[in-house]
Amino acid sequence: MEWRWRRGASAWGALAFLLLLCSNGAAPRIASRAKPREQPVAAAAAARDPAAPFLANVSLERPPERRWEPVLRHFDPAFLREACGRIIDEVIPKWVHAIIRPIAKELESFAPQPFAGEIRGICDALGLDVGDGLLLNLAYESTAYCTSILAQDKNGHIYHGRNMDYAFGDILRQITIEVNFVKNGQVKYRGTTFFGYVGLWTGQSPYKFTISGDERDQGNWWENAVAAFLRHSSPVSWLTRTVLSEAEDFEAAVHMLSKTPIIADVYYIVGGVTPKEGVVITRKRSGPVDIWPLDPSSGGWYRVETNYDHWTTPPPFDDRRTPAIKALNATGQENINLKSLYKVLSVQPVLNKDTIYTTVMSAAAPDQYMTRVRTLE
Ligand SMILES: *[C@@H]1O[C@H](CO)[C@@H](O)[C@H](O)[C@H]1NC(C)=O
Ligand SMILES: *[C@@H]1O[C@H](CO)[C@@H](O)[C@H](O)[C@H]1NC(C)=O
Repeated sequence: MEWRWRRGASAWGALAFLLLLCSNGAAPRIASRAKPREQPVAAAAAARDPAAPFLANVSLERPPERRWEPVLRHFDPAFLREACGRIIDEVIPKWVHAIIRPIAKELESFAPQPFAGEIRGICDALGLDVGDGLLLNLAYESTAYCTSILAQDKNGHIYHGRNMDYAFGDILRQITIEVNFVKNGQVKYRGTTFFGYVGLWTGQSPYKFTISGDERDQGNWWENAVAAFLRHSSPVSWLTRTVLSEAEDFEAAVHMLSKTPIIADVYYIVGGVTPKEGVVITRKRSGPVDIWPLDPSSGGWYRVETNYDHWTTPPPFDDRRTPAIKALNATGQENINLKSLYKVLSVQPVLNKDTIYTTVMSAAAPDQYMTRVRTLE
């Protein structure tokens, strides 16, 4: 990824100093995110009818600052401003806010395009502080719990599905969108995101590959992320979008997702178009920890990744892996397709009260990309 440093050196110096202070204990303590998840109240909780999200077209030919304007019209600006305020108050430590807000005036000097321009354009249109916009685009990365599944059927077709679980469901369900990123009259890539969040956790490059990202937990998230961000590492979801935009094929995508420095640990799940093209990449910030491919000839016709390293046992208070595996076993390789994969992702607690949306996709059949906003009561 191209990181453009134009005028950032002085800002970075000030920031490095502040971060140093913080790491010496001057900063308020940041609570660890490794908290037990609440289980659904009853296994019989009822799922409300899933809804299709708004489908937006975003033209990559328009300047980054202006390309989200047509989408913005579909939302109430007052609601968006209030939602941003609430998430910032509840999620972002005050010291991070105090550092980033002034620095963000020079956003373009330390964030690459198109991300800097898109964030600035959306913030300007909404009358939001650009620093707040940047923080929101980083903040979501801190608490995304998810389930991703890859599967290969008996004919070698690859399917990829994911649940996005997150706090703030009352807000995020209303701003979940599917986006076609369009260039030369064609969909260059497609993704599911929250309006205003310009990275992608879920996306498809047609006839090439699909990607989802699941959070990999680590302590001291903000300290590490802010420092890495200023060392030019890519936010996790920005890399996903860059790869969707640039990688020529499955192999190139896996290579970029494995090697590019990022600001936080993550699992990247990648599906391709031909048999055996499917991997779970376990990432640390600097590079790959583990690559776990589909292995259909030895029984590995699916891979399930939640938020724990696949070679470890998930903690009993948050085991979504075993129920997903049971459901896949019950489905069987002869019956797996996008519809049955969606059903697997609807089994509780794989589907739970934090699930915002479910997406199923198959790069070889790009028109079948489907997202549904989920509500479990
Ligand atoms: C997006 O583009 C497609 C194809 O060009 C068109 O059919 C659709 O109506 C557009 N959607 C929106 C929301 O503009
Ligand atoms: C799923 O099936 C595999 C292969 O038959 C078996 O080894 C595994 O124990 C099953 N897992 C669950 C959770 O049912």
